Amino acid sequence: MNVQLKADHVWFHYTDEEGNRTSEDVLKDVSLEIKKGSFTAILGHNGSGKSTLARLLNAILVPISGSVWVNGIETRDEEQLYEIRRHTGMVFQNPDNQIVATIVEEDVAFGPENLGIEPQEIRRRVDEALRAVDMYEYRLHAPSQLSGGQKQRVAIAGIIAMRPDCIILDEPTAMLDPRGRREVMKTIRMLNEEHGITVVLITHYMDEAVQADRVVVMDDGKIIMDSTPGAVFTKPELLQAVGLDVPQAAELLQSLKEAGLPVEVTAIDEASCADVIMNLFA
Ligand SMILES: Nc1ncnc2c1ncn2[C@@H]1O[C@H](COP(=O)(O)OP(=O)(O)OP(=O)(O)O)[C@@H](O)[C@H]1O
Ligand SMILES: [Mg+2]
Repeated sequence: MNVQLKADHVWFHYTDEEGNRTSEDVLKDVSLEIKKGSFTAILGHNGSGKSTLARLLNAILVPISGSVWVNGIETRDEEQLYEIRRHTGMVFQNPDNQIVATIVEEDVAFGPENLGIEPQEIRRRVDEALRAVDMYEYRLHAPSQLSGGQKQRVAIAGIIAMRPDCIILDEPTAMLDPRGRREVMKTIRMLNEEHGITVVLITHYMDEAVQADRVVVMDDGKIIMDSTPGAVFTKPELLQAVGLDVPQAAELLQSLKEAGLPVEVTAIDEASCADVIMNLFA
């Protein structure tokens, strides 16, 4: 089976404990299929429904109507929640809210301990996970001594120690400085490329989204674009219309085009942008 996550005609609004509606429709007929081993970025301005979709894909929430499947298991099936959680890990914005222990390696062990894994195997997984995120030498440190990027990598290690085949990250770099962002993005790419873990990355940063192999753009509870980074980011008018930034390379080409120069917006990175400009003089 090649499909990791699937949403089929999903509608969602929030409700209180009595089941009374507490929001407008937040997701409106969303359908999405995410392949195993893929790297998908989800973009959209504030309130467009990204985090809600992430919570549905991790079975924290269930649809009002429509269905969500994780590894072929429908999330409405409450008896299978354990199985679903074992397959899909979630990383959130604030590393401080995700770290529970006072020593790095104990924090990473927390998830596998909850899965009831043998102590020896936990030891092995914790070391392996900390090496994978390049935090092994900090294993005996207190998380409070670490930088934001290091804490977020520890949080990611805690997830990979559970050996998920999919990780959903909801703006994992939003609270980090540029260096922390780069470290975390490198870790995310490594998980995808070297370990074959399916990655869903919710982000506000275009330079992060261009690293994915697929970009899904949400607006007002709907998916309005779903394509490769190259195809999405070379449509600056569409992105700007839904309040999103455009990669600088594409923005520059767009300005040149609007100024009447014979260029097409085909580049999203600096090197290919330079090629397009050089071609003007060729
Ligand atoms: N617990 C909740 N109860 C009621 N409404 C909610 C709740 N959580 C989110 N909403 C509403 O649902 C809509 C979508 O929110 P969501 O958090 O999914 O958006 P988002 O795209 O992740 O936004 P952001 O970029 O700010 O993180 C918003 O209008 C929000 O106010
Ligand atoms: Mg959000």
